[in-house]
Amino acid sequence: MERPTTGTSDVAIAAYDQSDLRHAAEAGIRAPSLHNSQPWLFGLRDGALEIRVDPTRRLASDRTGWAARVAGGAALYNTRLALAVAGRPALVVPHPDPADRDLIARLTPGASRPPTYAEAELYDAIARRYSNRGPFWPAPVPAEVRRALLAAARDELAWLDLLVGATALAAVSEIAYSADRVLRRDARYQAELAAWTHADQAPDGVPAHAGAPLPEPQDMLPQRLFTDRRRAPGRDYEPEPLVGVLGVAGDRPADQTRAGQAMQKVLLTATAAGLDTSMISQPIEVPAAREQLRRSLGRTGSPQILLRFGYGTPGHPTRRRDVADVLV
Ligand SMILES: Cc1cc2nc3c(=O)[nH]c(=O)nc-3n(C[C@H](O)[C@H](O)[C@H](O)COP(=O)(O)O)c2cc1C
Repeated sequence: MERPTTGTSDVAIAAYDQSDLRHAAEAGIRAPSLHNSQPWLFGLRDGALEIRVDPTRRLASDRTGWAARVAGGAALYNTRLALAVAGRPALVVPHPDPADRDLIARLTPGASRPPTYAEAELYDAIARRYSNRGPFWPAPVPAEVRRALLAAARDELAWLDLLVGATALAAVSEIAYSADRVLRRDARYQAELAAWTHADQAPDGVPAHAGAPLPEPQDMLPQRLFTDRRRAPGRDYEPEPLVGVLGVAGDRPADQTRAGQAMQKVLLTATAAGLDTSMISQPIEVPAAREQLRRSLGRTGSPQILLRFGYGTPGHPTRRRDVADVLV
């Protein structure tokens, strides 16, 4: 059957179809999301692919929708890569309908072309990326890899501040711990976190084995309590973790979607370079801490997520729901 076409130029471009949708969604669902809540839906409309937040899977603690949009932005970045490697790169309109706040982006097919080497490399990293919350080895991240991480954020119109020196790290550590204390005192927040943590092979939520070991006073950064496992003797967190704060110009829905895309490009760039990564968002979720963080960085704009990079002990990607469950 012939594909319907779009576009007004002399070269007709085939509209996206069910097979493009499935291929894109299979990559999209590998994106990270807060507590692995997977708050996204993928659909086709008039030959365009649409990504939207699934309001039924938005966390109650995510009152503004920030976490769902950052996750949606990351899923959008994965779908862009998937379509590009299939030779069907997308033209993306983020938040095309102001009246439809859950619509993250509409993607229409651009002119067909072969993928670039960089696109193919980042696409390959999608299946290998996962959150490694354990201690990393103290080996430093080479300068050229750090530069690649900064460039990845810039390419997606975001900034990444890699914290340099003990003073910068100590300031962010203090802010992160104060935010963590606020969230630990919030019984509803903790109940929700516990409800998304499980011991078995559920297709969503965080499996206990993917959690960080129990905290100890010397740890620089707070970790979520997904498990009551102790760390192996002597296997402490790296004394000088490589931590980056990723931010964008503003904090409107479109800014958060942009941050999600940039976050994903940075995470995939790190994965492609052989690094492990994890995300920390307590200081973003507590408004006073977020403001303190912004000031401590001397930044205008808005921090959106903290990222930790290093060389860890290999683990496993966490599960996702079946792709059929996210197609509409
Ligand atoms: C907006 C956002 C905030 C997150 N915050 C944290 C966090 O504070 N701590 C953490 O360990 N993981 C955090 N994560 C990572 C998710 O827990 C993780 O992506 C999810 O469990 C899926 O696992 P995976 O990253 O291994 O695929 C966050 C992810 C997103 C998108």
